[in-house]
Amino acid sequence: MFFDLHRHLEGTLRVATTRALAVRDGHRLAAVDDLDDLLVARGPLGGLVPFLAKVDAAPAAFSRLEDWQRAGRECVEDAAAEGLDYLEIRFAPWFIRQETGLAPEGVIDAVADGVRAASAETGVRTALIGILLRDLGPECGLDQVDTLLSRRDLFCAVDLAGNEGGVPAADFAPAFARARDAGLHVTVHAGEGAGPESVWAAVRHLGAERIGHGVRAAEDPALLEHLAARGITLEVALTSNLHTSVAPSYAAHPVRRLLAAGVPVALCTDDPRASATTLPAEFEAAREAGLTDADLAAVRVNAREAAFG
Ligand code: HPA
Ligand code: ZN
Repeated sequence: MFFDLHRHLEGTLRVATTRALAVRDGHRLAAVDDLDDLLVARGPLGGLVPFLAKVDAAPAAFSRLEDWQRAGRECVEDAAAEGLDYLEIRFAPWFIRQETGLAPEGVIDAVADGVRAASAETGVRTALIGILLRDLGPECGLDQVDTLLSRRDLFCAVDLAGNEGGVPAADFAPAFARARDAGLHVTVHAGEGAGPESVWAAVRHLGAERIGHGVRAAEDPALLEHLAARGITLEVALTSNLHTSVAPSYAAHPVRRLLAAGVPVALCTDDPRASATTLPAEFEAAREAGLTDADLAAVRVNAREAAFG
């Protein structure tokens, strides 16, 4: 059973599709010599921000709503080819608006259409997570969440992503309170581009039930105890952590210590195109990180139990 709880639509957009759409439109990306190099990390990039630049370079080519329907469809088709049983797909409608000028509500509907159709065809179960982007600033947090709530039934949860070193999570507390009041689950990117204090903020101020990455929680024993006691699952993406230089190698990744502390861990891909990975490849990488067969079996159970959909 393969369950991926953390995969960004923007980080799944295929290089070939990005190129085809850019050529169709005469978009500037069509003139890039090595599109692969622009959109895919091949090694450590030294930080979260340069990695996000690779994830975020593709959406500008998806200039029509029908392109976002295709994006949703191809994302699920790729998941089926990997052998996934269940996939939570997250995306940031306001970021897509910024890159394309498209109405975020239309983008949500188009993505949901494509995902629904491909899910029915392939049998991969899917759920959608709406992302609020830190980088757009806290003053539009409520507006971002209202866009998601205009399509409330399409989403299982809300997330906070983007540059963790920028706007603090606490500034988004009103937006997350509104999302929780509407019955959405909460996951938050934290403990990736910043330290344990960022994970504490996600739990205390935003009501996070799961944490995207969270790996720097390993630096704070009291936080590990808190996460274990509350059953707060960490969505760990090993290859992404190498590319963002959060961990220097699989072998030196703290995932084993997280599990040993009793913290539920689910293995995830984050951005399969930008990291050139798949969920089965992440399970292989986990062996290099020192996880045993028993650990991997526990990780699969954790993912099933922490699924929002
Ligand atoms: N962190 C924050 N935002 C993101 C990431 C990430 O790893 N991937 C895509 N958007
Ligand atoms: Zn992520």
